[in-house]
This record gives sequence, C-alpha cells and structure tokens, in this order.
Amino acid sequence: MPNIVWSDTLSIGKTEIDAEHKQLIRIANSLLRAMQEGRNKNDFAKILHELREYTVFHFNNEEEYMRSIGYPDLNKHMEEHNILKRRVKDFQHSVFIGENVEFGLLREMLKDWLVGHILSCDLLIKEYLASKDVKQEGQA
Ligand SMILES: [Fe+2]
Repeated sequence: MPNIVWSDTLSIGKTEIDAEHKQLIRIANSLLRAMQEGRNKNDFAKILHELREYTVFHFNNEEEYMRSIGYPDLNKHMEEHNILKRRVKDFQHSVFIGENVEFGLLREMLKDWLVGHILSCDLLIKEYLASKDVKQEGQA
C-alpha cells in the first residue's frame, strides 16, 4: 500500500486537475519508497527534482484554471502555492547539503503539502464552481 493514498474525497471535480494531483501523489510515493529502500542520494535527489518540477507545472495549470473560471480567491491561493514551492525548494536544499531526513517527518510533510493543500485550498475551487452553478441556474 502506498504511503499517500488518493481518494474521491480529494476530487475537485475537474478531470485534468485531479489527474495532476494523482501524479503528484505518485511522485511523492516514489520519493518515500526510494527512502524506504535506502536508495542512494542521487536517486533520491532525482525524484525530488521531478517532484519540484511537476509541482511548478501543476500549480501553473491550476492557477490558469482558476483564472479561467474567475475564481475570486486566486491571489490567496497563489500565495499558498508560493509557500509550498518554497518548502519543496528548502527541502531540496537540505538534501543537497546532506542534512539527515527522517522518514516519518518526510511522509508527514508530503502528506501535508499534497493532501492538506488539496483539502484546505483546492476543494474551495469545487465549492466555488458549485455555488456558480446554483447562481447560474437561479438566473436562468
Ligand atoms: Fe492548489
């Protein structure tokens, strides 16, 4: 069983965004697996690099999507993305300078980045879409 598990409660109802969240979870699980298997620092750093690149790619797409639907809290959400991006970067730096990374800590951190962010921020996009549908129906 993977360390971080996708469930339908994480779905924001937009297929492309959900697929990217699933991919992020997949990369995070590979990173945790690499650590569990005691793979060398280079392998670990390579997956971490992939995680960082994909995070930036996904956040850009998600921000573009929010812009396209007129999401009112875009700036707040972007700030949250910036904090997460900085955390991945800081973590990458810690690994680079050879700091010891504890498995449990990394797992909790990744869960917090991904699942925590989806639940606390991304699902608000779903709520917004639902309220917009209701309003549009009301106006029709
Ligand atoms: Fe987000």
